[in-house]
This record gives sequence, C-alpha cells and structure tokens, in this order.
Amino acid sequence: MHMIDDLIEKLDIQDGDNLLDFGCGWGCVPNYILSKFPKVRFTGLNLSHEQCEYMRQKMQDPESYLSSGRFTLIEGDLNNAQFEEKFDKILSVGVFCHVGNLTNAFRKLASFLKPEGKFFLHIITVRTPNNISSVYTHKYIFPHGRYWSFDAVPSHNKDLKTIERWYLNGMNYSKTFATWLKNFDDSYSDVKELDYGIDPARFRRIWRFYLIWLASNFASCDGEINGNGQFLMVHAR
Ligand SMILES: C[S@@+](CC[C@H](N)C(=O)[O-])C[C@H]1O[C@@H](n2cnc3c(N)ncnc32)[C@H](O)[C@@H]1O
Repeated sequence: MHMIDDLIEKLDIQDGDNLLDFGCGWGCVPNYILSKFPKVRFTGLNLSHEQCEYMRQKMQDPESYLSSGRFTLIEGDLNNAQFEEKFDKILSVGVFCHVGNLTNAFRKLASFLKPEGKFFLHIITVRTPNNISSVYTHKYIFPHGRYWSFDAVPSHNKDLKTIERWYLNGMNYSKTFATWLKNFDDSYSDVKELDYGIDPARFRRIWRFYLIWLASNFASCDGEINGNGQFLMVHAR
C-alpha cells in the first residue's frame, strides 16, 4: 500500500482522472486507487483469462471497489487493444519484463494517452550496460521474460519520453523472494497437491531454485545492481 501511495504521488493522480492499468494482474492497484478517489475511473487491461475471471467476480462483490461501477475490465492483449476515449494517466506495474518490443509498446500506449497525459512505468531493472535474460527463467518460469537495463527505457524518445526516473534498491525485493521461499516451503503439503501436470518434486526443485537464486540476485552489491526502476513518461514532441 505504501508503494501504491508512492505511485499515486509520482504519477500525480487526481480525483476525477480517467486511468488505465496496463497488465492489471488481479486488480489490486485499481482496487486500492478507486478506494482512495471517489471520482476516479479505471480501466484494467489484462490478457490472463484466469485473472479476468477473478476480477469479474470482484466486480459483483459489494466489498470490492471493482464493483463501484467505475471499473472497466478489458480482457485482451495490448497489441490488439483499442479504446474509444483517451486516458489522463496510464500505469503499468511489473509488466514490461514480459514486453519484448519497447518501441511498439510505447507507440501503442502513447496513442491511448491525452496530449498532457502521463505514463508511470514500474519494472524490475538491472544497472548493467545490457538487458539480462536467462535460459532457465525463459524455459521454466517466464517465457521470453527479460530484465531491462535501467538505461533502456530513457534511451527511447519516440512517442513517449522519460522525464524522471527512480532506482529502488533491490534489498526489499530480496526479502520478498526469501519470504516467498519460506511460504512455499511451509505450504509444501498444499503445493504437492497442485496439479500442474508435472512431477511435484520437480516442480518444487524448479521453484526453490528460482526463489533462492532471485533472493540472492537482488541482494547482490547491497541491492545496487538488481532492483526496481520507475519511469515517468510523457508524449515525446
Ligand atoms: C507480473 S504481473 C503484474 C500484475 C499487476 N500489475 C501487479 O502489479 O499486481 C504481469 C501482468 O501483465 C499481464 N500482461 C502481460 N503481457 C500483457 C499484454 N501483452 N497485454 C495485456 N496484459 C499483459 C499479465 O497477464 C499479468 O497480469
């Protein structure tokens, strides 16, 4: 919630804004922002059918702000998305590790944004000259995933350009991975019963390796190499 409050401040969200969340996951960021601003309207774009089914249930649940009548859900891919109205602000949290072509994505997002609109991008990033991807992650965890270099986003100035950026030290994310590992181990009796079509012992090895590896990756160099990047972008003119 502190991170979302921070996002609200950096993106300068105002009550009455018309917002788009590209890759809205389970809807937790829209839900929180809708709870804070009674006149904000939100559109969530997400290609995951399972996550959209979950949000459609929440849109019927009076306890969820997704049921406020101010939330619109679009199940679909950014590459095919079209909207009738433009947005004051767009945000995207943890999605661009799955976006392979920044030029196309920025062109598309810029076309959804009002002339004075702003786009806030939050991603895992690396402070190395090159982007980083791994065969292991590609094969077992996130196909085609990559960590963009901290300089990759600001090096684009077509359609959208970066006007401000922040590097968030990776130590916190390392703790998150360590906690996920503990939860995973503590819940192994449940995990064993999940039917993902692979041998549970293999599933356990794959995920334990990934969680241990990432916990140490984000802690390397006291969190100054692997962390999160935040970028505030506007139309490039
Ligand atoms: C790591 S999750 C982040 C979810 C959410 N933003 C959050 O922070 O909780 C990435 C999300 O992006 C969505 N996504 C990835 N590529 C997409 C695309 N091309 N079009 C729409 N959604 C996409 C996934 O379905 C998933 O919900």
